[in-house]
Amino acid sequence: MVCIRQATVDDLLAMQSCNLMCLPENYQMKYYFYHILSWPQLLYVAEDYNKKIVGYVLAKMEEESTECHGHITSLAVLRTHRKLGLATKLMNAAQQAMQEVFGAEYVSLHVRKSNRAAFHLYTETLGYKINDIEAKYYADSEDAYDMRKMLKAKPEKSGADSKNDGTKRVPVEKAGDRLSKDKDDTIRRPKTSSAEGVPTESLEKDHSKANIDIVVKETSAGRAG
Ligand code: ACO
Repeated sequence: MVCIRQATVDDLLAMQSCNLMCLPENYQMKYYFYHILSWPQLLYVAEDYNKKIVGYVLAKMEEESTECHGHITSLAVLRTHRKLGLATKLMNAAQQAMQEVFGAEYVSLHVRKSNRAAFHLYTETLGYKINDIEAKYYADSEDAYDMRKMLKAKPEKSGADSKNDGTKRVPVEKAGDRLSKDKDDTIRRPKTSSAEGVPTESLEKDHSKANIDIVVKETSAGRAG
């Protein structure tokens, strides 16, 4: 059984380790702390029956922008657990929280042009569209697709409820504000070794028929998945 649940501070090392195994875009531990201290509702992990973290999604809100929107910083699932629907569920959990907790209008992300598996997940399964192409976005000069998915508008609230609505939409005080100074450019674009940078989807074992139950834990933002 694999459980999708909101991440805690205790999960950050395992998330970082999963990231190092799966992606060439790696982050210092302070960047994980920045995310969880600022937007704890937007980090989810997939945990197997042995309490091992086998996947994660790391997401944030973009507060500088005029439009309130979420951003997927990083997503990965260990090769041993791919094609089970875990990435789809992790993404749905983060997107739902962006919308319900922060009132996000849309969610954005960057993905390498060569990342066939992730591109397929975003376009075919999750309904993202290409917004732009960012030339040489990555440290090894590969282009990125800048992708977006509109989130459903939140229903209007009336009466007493509307008074609380504002408090829910205000992003959490930026606890890691100082950390944000050296965020994206320096941390999101590390030098990449060619071995890490090459997509290895063809090496994946197909577990699509594996008999693994996936449980999605309830969160304050509602059902996550
Ligand atoms: N080839 C083609 N399409 C694929 C593949 C693949 N190898 N793997 C997944 N997909 C697509 C399919 O459309 C699939 O839908 P289907 O089941 O109807 O065929 C859909 O993704 C959903 O698959 P999931 O099982 O939910 O995805 P999974 O748990 O296997 O994780 C992921 C997909 C995250 C891309 C995984 O392969 C991975 O961790 N790769 C390495 C890290 C990575 O590339 N992360 C994304 C970088 S971009 C970013 O972080 C913002």
